[in-house]
Amino acid sequence: MKLFLDSANLDEIREVASWGVLDGVTTNPSLCSKENVTFEDNIRAICALTSGPVSAECVSLKAEEIIPEARTLARIAPNVAVKIPVGLEGLKAAKMLDGEGIAVNMTLVFSAGQALLAAKAGARFVSPFIGRLDDVSEDGMALIEEIVEIFENYRFKTEVIVASVRHPRHVIEAARIGADIATVPFAVMQKLVRHPLTDAGVEKFLADWRKVKK
Ligand code: E4P
Repeated sequence: MKLFLDSANLDEIREVASWGVLDGVTTNPSLCSKENVTFEDNIRAICALTSGPVSAECVSLKAEEIIPEARTLARIAPNVAVKIPVGLEGLKAAKMLDGEGIAVNMTLVFSAGQALLAAKAGARFVSPFIGRLDDVSEDGMALIEEIVEIFENYRFKTEVIVASVRHPRHVIEAARIGADIATVPFAVMQKLVRHPLTDAGVEKFLADWRKVKK
């Protein structure tokens, strides 16, 4: 399973890259708005920190505007994946961009039907937002199960990015289902590493080591 960091913060990305587990990065306008740097400079800097895909989101709404915006973003670095919200205009744009070899991450996916259409339109990735579904009392992980099953049935090459991850169990469940990727906020990535019994175990071993004859 690939792990992406869901962040536009260079320090966080650098830190997780140093752990040796970073396979890519996803950003969105909300994450980018927290950084004191221009959007393009930020994406360029992120792309230099990982060789994996870096999602940069288009904000245009019509296909004829999304397409040139996506081309501009794709020129920033070879590992840019353009993020496009799913919808009729997004599908049209995805088809065209896929034909040009530009990786599309179809985002804001909340149903299996949207994911199916995105895959058929040639999206390289789909991003179902599970946390936001859980927030409104729906079952985000059930959506991941549906999408993974559909993509396996028809051997779509589109990869499932489990997005809007809120806690470590989301990552574990996504891995059990066989989702290709989870994009994980920094705080959740830190929680994945830590366990209180590991900390207690290290402390005890160190205490006992001090009693060992040397
Ligand atoms: C994914 O690509 C999105 O950036 C992100 O996962 C959205 O998460 P949120 O629901 O916590 O904003």
